[in-house]
Amino acid sequence: MSRPAFYVTTPIYYVNAAPHLGHAYTTIAADVMARHHRQRGQDVFFLTGTDEHGEPVKLAAEKEGITPGELAERNYVRFRDLAPRLGASNDFFIRTSDAEHQAKVQEVLTRVKDNGFAYEGTYEGWYCPRCADFKTEREIAEGNTCPIHKIALTREHEHNWFFRLSAFQDALDRLFTERPDFVRPRARYNEALSFIRGGLQDVSLSRRGLGWGVPVPWDPEQVFYVWWDALLNYYTALSYAAPGEDLTGRFWPATYHLVGKDILKFHTIYWPALLMAADLPVPEHVFVHGFLLSGGEKMSKSLGNVLDPFEVIERYGSDALRYYLLRDVSFGQDGSVSPAAFEERYERELANDYGNLASRTLAMIVRYRDGEVAPVRHDAALEADFDGLAERVSELLDRAEVTQALEEIWQRVRRLNRYVEECAPWQLAKDPERAGDLDVVLATLAEGLRVLTVLLHPWLPATSAKLLAALGAPDDALEAARLGARRVARVAAIEPLFPKQAA
Ligand code: MSP
Repeated sequence: MSRPAFYVTTPIYYVNAAPHLGHAYTTIAADVMARHHRQRGQDVFFLTGTDEHGEPVKLAAEKEGITPGELAERNYVRFRDLAPRLGASNDFFIRTSDAEHQAKVQEVLTRVKDNGFAYEGTYEGWYCPRCADFKTEREIAEGNTCPIHKIALTREHEHNWFFRLSAFQDALDRLFTERPDFVRPRARYNEALSFIRGGLQDVSLSRRGLGWGVPVPWDPEQVFYVWWDALLNYYTALSYAAPGEDLTGRFWPATYHLVGKDILKFHTIYWPALLMAADLPVPEHVFVHGFLLSGGEKMSKSLGNVLDPFEVIERYGSDALRYYLLRDVSFGQDGSVSPAAFEERYERELANDYGNLASRTLAMIVRYRDGEVAPVRHDAALEADFDGLAERVSELLDRAEVTQALEEIWQRVRRLNRYVEECAPWQLAKDPERAGDLDVVLATLAEGLRVLTVLLHPWLPATSAKLLAALGAPDDALEAARLGARRVARVAAIEPLFPKQAA
């Protein structure tokens, strides 16, 4: 049994560029999990936001000849507005420039120092200004370049404050050994563990001369290294997201941090170590997803191969984008995205498998029975296929298996389509003697469609609400996702849920 509170986060996005599909991907996945857990009646908190400090933002602002603050002010809005356009139901949007966040960062990191985990020292080594990452020897590509951004690393020599990461070598090893599900999927767990076992070196806690960040209270010439400031958002947000109420006791530790594979080290190693250093409980799980690729390369603004989520939403709606991304790119692995693959899934699965099933079912009930569904029990033939489905979906989503859970549901969408073909209600309708059989088939279709539509709510929230309303059964709680749990009595015809698009 999972605990009643469920807290899920996305990474906070750098405001140095416009939002792209990679950002949308994590936000959508987190939203699916948040919505599913709300369906289970759990107390849910879902957080997203923007990372406004550090070199990535400072450098982008310099290029445009404005201050980092001005750039952040202009760009954060685009991320804030992306969430609702994706249909995301985040409970709060944090900005690391929020005064409450900054005060809390100072408080926690001062405790880290008071606990003996900070010291002054000199850093000498390689650094990627786009990752804002001090690279260890194992993380450097040919010719001292960044393997992620493919740019030359800079050689840093800096006197600043250090975090005693090495002191957490054993504690982290223990955390991973005791909690094999701390990091998912397994391959990412192994990657993090081998990083730990390779030996941990201390890392910068602060940066000198950057002038853009949260000031170090005991050394005002310095600002905290952006990753500490950023990671702490997951914790600080709870203290001020709800006016007049501190949600920390209710939601900390987080249930799931969802992150891309490029930021694994920060979330699976630095973050739990920092929390331990500050006497705070560590999150339950970090789920590491792969990259959306375009022509074999990571999609990113700096690589110039971006698919625009806003354009897709404009034309097809946010549900179609949500469905496509989580269906086509198995959550946890890399996968290619393209307009052609999108259109194929849209036509074949959303418009045909599901959209047609819904239109046909409703249209037949309207045509043959004037919209009334007879009060008869559903066909036992479908029971084996639907039994335990809601539980299976929950189990998969407990492991953040967002793509597999969708696949389980989709198999039943296909099963219901086969049921229509097997029963051929249009034949039954011609034979007055078989009116009772027709009643059962129509009631079964309506009920099957209702159950699947409740289960699909996290992926297709707008469509699900529309269709449940047409079925006259708006309850989308997970306990309603069983054959016979609610009754569809009367339906209304609807416009196609996923209209075919002119080429
Ligand atoms: N600001 C940091 C995160 C701090 S969290 C405490 C950051 N920001 S980012 O905007 O560069 O990236 C945010 C997320 O987007 C990361 O999880 C990254 O993996 C993800 N993606 C960026 N491009 C991506 C793809 N092409 N595909 C999938 N996700 C990718 O890192």
